[in-house]
Amino acid sequence: MSQTDIPLIPDYSAKQIWAIGGGKGGTGKTIVAASISILLAKTGSKVVAIDADLGGANLHTCLGIRYPKTTIADFLLKKITSFDELLIDTPIENLKFISGANDFLTIANIPYAQKQKLIKYIRNIPADYIILDLGAGTSFNVLDLFLISDCSVVVVVPEPTSVENVYRFIKCAILRRLNNSLNTSRFQDIFKLATEARGNESIKTLYDLLERIYRMDSSVAADLEKKIDTFSPKLIVNQVRENDSIMIGSSIRDITKKYLGVGLDYAGYIPYDERVSEAIKKFKPLILEYPNCSASLCMNLTLKKLLSNGQPVAGKEAK
Ligand SMILES: Nc1ncnc2c1ncn2[C@@H]1O[C@H](COP(=O)(O)OP(=O)(O)OP(=O)(O)O)[C@@H](O)[C@H]1O
Ligand SMILES: [Mg+2]
Repeated sequence: MSQTDIPLIPDYSAKQIWAIGGGKGGTGKTIVAASISILLAKTGSKVVAIDADLGGANLHTCLGIRYPKTTIADFLLKKITSFDELLIDTPIENLKFISGANDFLTIANIPYAQKQKLIKYIRNIPADYIILDLGAGTSFNVLDLFLISDCSVVVVVPEPTSVENVYRFIKCAILRRLNNSLNTSRFQDIFKLATEARGNESIKTLYDLLERIYRMDSSVAADLEKKIDTFSPKLIVNQVRENDSIMIGSSIRDITKKYLGVGLDYAGYIPYDERVSEAIKKFKPLILEYPNCSASLCMNLTLKKLLSNGQPVAGKEAK
């Protein structure tokens, strides 16, 4: 055997975890996660799509898989011994899939130790891209999976309730990120006030929070400020029916910057397109069934923007 016959060990050192979240249910997180996974796999990258919506798993349907034979529940309930057994082949070259836990609803509230175990395994999956489809809401499980990602994406629809939810989701995510980075409980009371659903009178913005912490310890406040500066989720506006709605992405970006100090990156919009539900009803992946429909074309453009790390790409450009 010559040296060139020895198979090379794939190098996944540049592996990226992407998480698709956003707070509200039904905005299109799963269809975006499925489409991005397939498009990335089509470029030749090794991709693993994970249904991390442990209480309402349905990513398999958008990938054209009817009955996943193993799920994360089997792993958490120790029905299978190795995490690798969860990796399901898909009909799409370069794409593997890990199913959520639909068959065991209470698994949505997994205990802390199990969540850490799951996160450790996810980080070790050999792949170029790991795409996490998150559930709705702002539970710590959802937020912690969102926060392990190298590229965090939020999907919003142009409706006031969705905009409110995505703002709240980003607020909860940044507060969780800051809180996780502290190794002292000294500031817990301040964080509690900042997390209040309707906003506390004395801590309305993240700047108020930083100011309170600054008064107690300026170096901690400076560290937290850096954590805010380096947190830059990508925003996708989905189910756009009229041109005016495209601007909602820019408005959310401005408000988030003003009150949370978080610099969102508007990655693009996807139009409302009947083909999406047609593909789902047929149990077919949208991108493969209708590659030239407007939703698929815009998914493609949005992915290009995500891959270009926020730099504008040629073509239809989000304002
Ligand atoms: N661009 C679109 N055009 C038309 N319909 C869409 C579009 N995006 C999503 N939908 C519809 O919205 C439904 C919900 O989408 P999806 O399941 O991806 O949302 P989700 O955010 O993952 O929901 P959940 O929070 O329940 O997991 C889909 O079944 C589909 O019919
Ligand atoms: Mg979903």
